[in-house]
Amino acid sequence: ETASAGVNASGAILLGVMGDPIGHSKSPLMQEAALRALGISGAYVPLHVTPDKLGEAVQAIRILGFRGVNVTIPHKVAVMEYMDHLDESALSVGAVNTVVNDGGVLTGYNTDGIGYVRSLKAEAIADLSGARILVIGAGGAARGIVTSLLQENPASIVIANRNAAKAVELAAECRTKGKVKGISLAEMPAELQGIQVVINTTSVGMYPHTDETPLDPSLLHEGMVVSDLIYNPLRTRLLTESLERGCRIHGGLGMFIYQGAYALEYWTGRPAPIDVMRSSMLETQD
Ligand code: ATR
Repeated sequence: ETASAGVNASGAILLGVMGDPIGHSKSPLMQEAALRALGISGAYVPLHVTPDKLGEAVQAIRILGFRGVNVTIPHKVAVMEYMDHLDESALSVGAVNTVVNDGGVLTGYNTDGIGYVRSLKAEAIADLSGARILVIGAGGAARGIVTSLLQENPASIVIANRNAAKAVELAAECRTKGKVKGISLAEMPAELQGIQVVINTTSVGMYPHTDETPLDPSLLHEGMVVSDLIYNPLRTRLLTESLERGCRIHGGLGMFIYQGAYALEYWTGRPAPIDVMRSSMLETQD
């Protein structure tokens, strides 16, 4: 094997995550636990890369023989121009979170949206076909999630956003002839009737603003699935209030685990040890 094939001379697989800052990333811990569980010799290291060095850092993936990297804030969009190929998942979202190195040829993927949907299906609602879904927020996270949700053939998706124009724009981009529509937060109450799944993609309720909720909890009704992308805290006020009202709840940790699981599966070709990855995260919650 040459270094550029993505396996170094010792046969160990080199992986990492590029970001700025990178010190608080939980990915190294989770991915190294996964590698150990699979019996794969290798390492997954935090790589502090500043924006001005991103191009050189990507070139170093080839030179050092990394099999791949995750890419996080602030590089997810900027890294696209350095890829040899972009998977459809990255093109539709306009951002890359996973790079795979095949003999020096780099392909950019985005596993956030598919990771989220896999987690939602595994943990809260197995079948999304025919579901009526409300997505709160219209930013980068919402874009990936809406794209992946559409693969599940839901009946409808309503996107509600503080800046309503962004929600309308995202809905129009989906090109699904009326299946997806954008509204303002003020229009949300009237839309909630008949909604089966509510997904918060905004940062409202995230530490330290843990008292806030992205919608009035009195609008929730029994039997709804309520999902929050936030995982700090693990249970947001939205989820606590939802549980009290008889909703099924789904927290943000699953998305983090499954975006990493897809990345690991692309790099190794092996099924990810989800339970090990989840345990490694739960043990380190601070
Ligand atoms: P991400 O990649 O996490 O989606 P983003 O692209 O910056 O981040 O998008 C943040 C989303 O959270 C947006 O939908 C934003 O609403 P606006 O488009 O109106 O800005 C939403 N958001 C953030 N803070 C919010 C708040 N305090 N109230 C309501 N929505 C908020």
